[in-house]
Amino acid sequence: MRWPYHLQCFNCHTKYLTQTTNYRCEKCSGPLEVRFQISQRTIPWKKRSFSVWKYRELLPINSDRFITTLAEGGTGLHHCERLGHEIGLKRLYVKNEGENPTGSFKDRGMTVAMSKARELGKSKVVCASTGNTAASLAAYSARGGLQCIVIVPEGKVAAGKMLQVMIHGARIFQVKGGFDQAMAAVVKLTESRKRFYLMNSLNPFRLEGQKTLAFEVCDQLGDETPDTLVLPVGNGGNISAIWKGFGEFRELGITKTRPRMIGIQAENAAPLAEAIKRKQESIQPVTNPRTIASAIRIGSPVNWMKVLRAISESDGTAEIVSDREILTAQNDLASKEGIFVEPASAASIAGLRKCVDAGRIDRSDLVVCVTTGHGLKDPSIANLIRRPQSYTLNITQPVWVERLERIL
Ligand code: F0G
Repeated sequence: MRWPYHLQCFNCHTKYLTQTTNYRCEKCSGPLEVRFQISQRTIPWKKRSFSVWKYRELLPINSDRFITTLAEGGTGLHHCERLGHEIGLKRLYVKNEGENPTGSFKDRGMTVAMSKARELGKSKVVCASTGNTAASLAAYSARGGLQCIVIVPEGKVAAGKMLQVMIHGARIFQVKGGFDQAMAAVVKLTESRKRFYLMNSLNPFRLEGQKTLAFEVCDQLGDETPDTLVLPVGNGGNISAIWKGFGEFRELGITKTRPRMIGIQAENAAPLAEAIKRKQESIQPVTNPRTIASAIRIGSPVNWMKVLRAISESDGTAEIVSDREILTAQNDLASKEGIFVEPASAASIAGLRKCVDAGRIDRSDLVVCVTTGHGLKDPSIANLIRRPQSYTLNITQPVWVERLERIL
């Protein structure tokens, strides 16, 4: 059983056929989204194990034949008591999306978008990327047998992500400038040449996979909804997808409430957070975004409209963090909780700390912080971290055990 669905403009509500390959409204250029006609029915979700496809009734795929998977979803929701206590929270959970197959949350969306691309008969898929989308698309293209084209900002993608793109056999095109220029190129290519299928978060089917994070968090909390969800924001696809997911679970009557959504951006790359702080209804793009968190080094987020609405509907907010705050948070999470995340992901912890200190998050809240990508993806921070003292051990000498003991 699957619920019927259609595509609809997020802005002017014009409806489109589900098999369309457009991702923008023909009337107003607004972003499209998938809308399910949810009817109250009990689905045996509890009996199924954790996975994006556990929630297949709420995913826009017409036939299981095309499902392309690497076992995504089912990531840990870790109760971080030590770090929570230090920040001043009793109930802090980290939803660690770095545990996905290619090491980032993108896999949740990519399994659905790739399945849809195959269902639509596509053979060439393309994305612009700061690295993780490209790594994920490259892997799922290999899995699904499609040709993968990635357009990335030259010299600005973390080494681990670039390695993933290469080993999975993607065709790589580098452009001068940053992510925003790469994104504009991909939009131009896919709008003028329909045989190239766009797999960025403008693709409404991809966001459907990403919304499963909301379902999974509620499931893992025993059908409880967090009070507050904190996550890093770049292009804004993830925060809007997750907000949609919380809405669908509430519509189904599984949960009663939805969390406040708090989006974190990096200093000098924070057009959304700036707009929210100034209570503006649209964003002012940042022309030359700069931050150590290369994954969210984005000045002109394509999903800005969805983000502003998600934050406002949820009574949420946004926060801006510096590179230093990001690196401190990355180190805290790794050394106090054993969770190693990339700088963009650590921005969520840094922002959480700031919001709690400023009294913008209640200390009694059940807070879920989403960490979006694995730390090994970006080894460039190796020379920025505090190095522990290391010793040379001459184990040919008989007294080496005593020496080691003396040091400790
Ligand atoms: N965290 C990480 C690790 C990311 O890679 C991204 C986005 C984000 C957060 C922000 O998510 O764009 O949905 O708001 N990375 C994209 C990429 C841009 O190309 O990999 P968003």
